[in-house]
Amino acid sequence: MSEELKVYAPPADFAAQAHVSGMAAYEALCKEAETDYEGYWGRLAKELISWKTPFTKVLNEAEAPFFKWFEDGTLNASYNCLDRNVERGLGDKTAIIFEADGGEVTKVSYSELLAKTCQIANGLKSLGIKKGDRVMIYIAMSVDGVAAMQACARIGATHSVVFGGFSAQSLRDRIEDTGAKAIITADCQVRGGKQLPLKAIVDEALGLGGCDSIQKVLVVKRGDAKCAMTAGRDQWMDDLVSGLPTTCEPEWVEAEHPLFLLYTSGSTGKPKGVQHSTGGYLLHAALTTKWTFDLKADDVFWCTADIGWVTGHTYITYGPLALGGTEIVFEGVPTYPDAGRFWKMIQDHKVSIFYTAPTAIRSLIKAAEANDAVHPKSYDLSSLRLLGSVGEPINPAAWEWYHQHVGGGRCPIVDTFWQTETGGHMITPLPGATPLVPGSCTLPFPGIQFAVVDEVGNDLPWGKGGILVCKKPWPSMIRTIWGDPERFKKSYYPEDFKGKYYLAGDGAIRDEKTGYFTITGRIDDVLNVSGHRMGTMEIESALVSCTELVAEAAVVGRPDDTTGEAICAFVVLKRPRPTGDEAKAIAKQLRDHVGKEIGPIAKPKDIRFGDNLPKTRSGKIMRRLLRSLAKGEAITQDTSTLENPAILDQLGENN
Ligand code: WT7
Repeated sequence: MSEELKVYAPPADFAAQAHVSGMAAYEALCKEAETDYEGYWGRLAKELISWKTPFTKVLNEAEAPFFKWFEDGTLNASYNCLDRNVERGLGDKTAIIFEADGGEVTKVSYSELLAKTCQIANGLKSLGIKKGDRVMIYIAMSVDGVAAMQACARIGATHSVVFGGFSAQSLRDRIEDTGAKAIITADCQVRGGKQLPLKAIVDEALGLGGCDSIQKVLVVKRGDAKCAMTAGRDQWMDDLVSGLPTTCEPEWVEAEHPLFLLYTSGSTGKPKGVQHSTGGYLLHAALTTKWTFDLKADDVFWCTADIGWVTGHTYITYGPLALGGTEIVFEGVPTYPDAGRFWKMIQDHKVSIFYTAPTAIRSLIKAAEANDAVHPKSYDLSSLRLLGSVGEPINPAAWEWYHQHVGGGRCPIVDTFWQTETGGHMITPLPGATPLVPGSCTLPFPGIQFAVVDEVGNDLPWGKGGILVCKKPWPSMIRTIWGDPERFKKSYYPEDFKGKYYLAGDGAIRDEKTGYFTITGRIDDVLNVSGHRMGTMEIESALVSCTELVAEAAVVGRPDDTTGEAICAFVVLKRPRPTGDEAKAIAKQLRDHVGKEIGPIAKPKDIRFGDNLPKTRSGKIMRRLLRSLAKGEAITQDTSTLENPAILDQLGENN
């Protein structure tokens, strides 16, 4: 494999100015961490974070795998992201360049963002919300969204952001699980020229029951969507905060205090509330923004993720602000008013660091190839100096296009592997040091101890594919699953590895010569569609909850050129198997049902109907056969244990 590998060394001028310059510098950092693990993280935690009370202990492993970092230190994340920059003289510096869906631009300085955050914080306090309470945030990309998160951090309330594309049912489930006291939302969100309701979905969620913990619904006015305001419960954010002081003493919290909960899908059951800390999380957010993105004072940084996902938390709300950077917050979608939107925004705002997902790149390649006007070559992208990719593997062809047409052949690409649970980058190039190989996320971030092992935890030699684990705890790791420590242990520190290794849930292989990592995909029943993570079981439960129609359903992923993976559902109905137009109509009905249960992102692309599913004699669904059928490939696997082989022909037909 190494023979034909195309290698891109860091450009000399980039390396010369980089925070981490050259492989020797990278290796020296790895060596420092290896020699004195706690000394290394302790040094960085002192350099990057301002502590109210300095910590004296770096890592406490007494209750492993419930690790504690910097436990006797106190700090405030919002102080670190806002006040500290103002105190350093950056008050007038632009923190956020907000571009709305329709193109209107608003610039917000650090002083202004601090004032806004303090007002919201004072508003929350006036409602009796205090340290340790949970606050849900269900809002689109906006300065208000970032400020709401910062305001929660400021008063020590734990925020839980729910992506605006999730349904009322999903929102309800998360509210119930967190026991939140308040929800911050907006009347609507604006995407692609359309206003989509948010407050109405909150009302629907609260109406589904189980949300008795909610005392207040705060509504930011974004558009002119009609809102039914329930007296005593609902209040416009503007009315709450107007006239409140623009200063607010931060609540100094212990390093382990939960900064946020973020729900993500696993292979079984309901989405899990991943709990992150304040100190360790913020350290890694700041450190990875500094080293992986090489962020400097005059950069314009743009992470296109939504604040509803972890990428938006770490690389919009916390990392760049902790370093006093200038960043873009974009409300809209990459294809509106046309597929040149990203390129136009890079040109208009002189973006220097651009971080997006392979799915977006692949869809923009298609659009650019069909229409020169939306091709990157039609824009001035000379401000770019670094590109990033996240969320799913980037195929070498997309990598090359991104490198050549967006980066003008001069910008390194950091392919960053990480997860909701890891808080920040885990395996990634450092752009001034690591030679790049398209399709590989290269090497672990300095201090991170990832390895590829077999089923019982033995190290595998380079060149042999296996299971990706992390051998040592790291500061920004998941602390627990909210309300379910047992599930945390079982999911991430399984007995297979004697409870010692963190299980990422992905397979990986290291290159025989370079040791570079390539992620080979999930090893559990988790799908990655357009960089969005979903459990097959969740989608199956949503389908079978359509009780009047569905008897049984099985969901698998199949490769898709644009979205990485596509959702393919095999469904047995309670009525005879439909064909033709009738099958199409029922498939649409089921898709809409899944959209209502989970959200539009979970709608299956293919739905195939069968009289049954392929099962073993003991009744177990043979998913590997379904995966082959979904791909449209001939069945070559052993089918001798299959009870009903004839079903394969029926399910193989596309209907
Ligand atoms: C899963 C985590 C990372 C934040 C956004 C997604 C896949 C993520 C890469 C990459 C190959 C990747 C993995 C991982 N993934 N980044 N650079 N190369 N695969 O966070 O929703 O928690 O999903 O996304 O499968 O386990 P998430």
